[in-house]
Amino acid sequence: MTRLLSNSVHERDIAALLHPSTNARTHLSTGPQVFDHGEGIYVYDDAGNRYLEGASALWCASLGFANERLAKVAYDAMKRLGYYQIFRHASNEAAVSLADRLLDIAPAPMSKVLLQCSGSEANDTALKLVWYHWNAQGKPQKRKVISRIDSYHGSTIGTICLTGIPDFHKGFGMPYEGYLYAECPHWYRDHHDGETEEQFSQRMADSLEALILREGPETIGAFFCDPIQGGAAGALPPPAGYFERVQAILRKYDILLVADEVICGFGRTGNMWGSQTCGLQPDLVTCAKALSAAMQPVSAVLISDRVFQSILAQSDRLGSFVHGFTYGGHPVTCAVANEVLTIYEEMDLIGHVQALAPHFRATFAALTDHPLVGHYAGHGLMGGLQLVQDKATRRLFPEGREVGPIVDRLARKHGLILRTTKHRVSLAPPLIITAEQITEMGEKLTRALDDALAEIKAA
Ligand SMILES: Cc1ncc(COP(=O)(O)O)c(C=O)c1O
Repeated sequence: MTRLLSNSVHERDIAALLHPSTNARTHLSTGPQVFDHGEGIYVYDDAGNRYLEGASALWCASLGFANERLAKVAYDAMKRLGYYQIFRHASNEAAVSLADRLLDIAPAPMSKVLLQCSGSEANDTALKLVWYHWNAQGKPQKRKVISRIDSYHGSTIGTICLTGIPDFHKGFGMPYEGYLYAECPHWYRDHHDGETEEQFSQRMADSLEALILREGPETIGAFFCDPIQGGAAGALPPPAGYFERVQAILRKYDILLVADEVICGFGRTGNMWGSQTCGLQPDLVTCAKALSAAMQPVSAVLISDRVFQSILAQSDRLGSFVHGFTYGGHPVTCAVANEVLTIYEEMDLIGHVQALAPHFRATFAALTDHPLVGHYAGHGLMGGLQLVQDKATRRLFPEGREVGPIVDRLARKHGLILRTTKHRVSLAPPLIITAEQITEMGEKLTRALDDALAEIKAA
């Protein structure tokens, strides 16, 4: 096929780019929306439309969409040592500083940091570390891993299997064997009449324990979870008492806990980590996204001493720890991440998020007055709205008539970009947002919900 030669970025996009999470067929006729520049929490497309980015793009642009200071740091780092690797005992100051700082702020005592470039790579690495650990412990059969229905942990082969969303598996012949899925602890949607959050959490924990016993605890190596569940769960905080019960079960059967902090880490939930907000004591922590305010591709796995001792034991037995990525510990990406952590300190990120959290909650919890909104739950500057067809029975819109995509489309008309799933709106604006901008976000979302209701009624 001859490629179309044109100066239009729209036509060149259609001719050349395959987009993630995009219907390839539809894209041939719709083409892209091209984004041109950013300013604080707003982005502008090439037609000059301005949007408040209510999802920090992919939960990541914590400091907004343009940053002179970080550009200067990247420029200086690139001039000094534009690249070097950290394989075979090589190191660089920026990578060491980043590891140091991550150990200082870790949500549980951690021993070492492994650096990569994406959340998927971090979770994939954590998965391999789980297997490496149990092999070192002489328990190679502890290979199965549990994640949760509706969770998202990445797009590599390992992490897409951890991801509990069937839409991501269809067409790829996934998931492979050995991946198990616990229930999504969605109290509002799934509780029985009269069932409290604590009772619901007990039911979820019982169901997890039954799964473990069915499979054999001696075959299960780890439980992966994000503290506040993103993915198809749509910014879903755990119900009361959930993680206490889950962690008691994991301890009982000697199953490692991996906290996926890719979206919750770095202030989003009102603490540095979602693990602190939700009471997790993980053996491994993965983080990315806001680690560099999304300005550079960098991620990390924080490794507890327990797991590090296994790595040492394997070094004695097998030789080198043979795992790594060319760009892990990159001096430029690490320099930018270090500067981002400095900015977080200077702006008192946690204080800022905690100060805004009540207004954020009040703004979006008020939307439960709207006929389409059944429930709101969230922490810090992260929350999820449950969209329902009928509030009294908590009934969702039927398949094929889901309201999430409608709200998404109409919000854009009002200059608001959202992250929606079929029945949920996830709210996660850049952490530099102000109280006035939260109000603006709430107003735009209200207008989008009103329009969605009118459209549904007219259909
Ligand atoms: C909870 C969670 N884990 C992992 C990932 C994967 O991160 P990445 O896209 O950087 O590979 C994501 C991406 O959105 C995520 O939300």
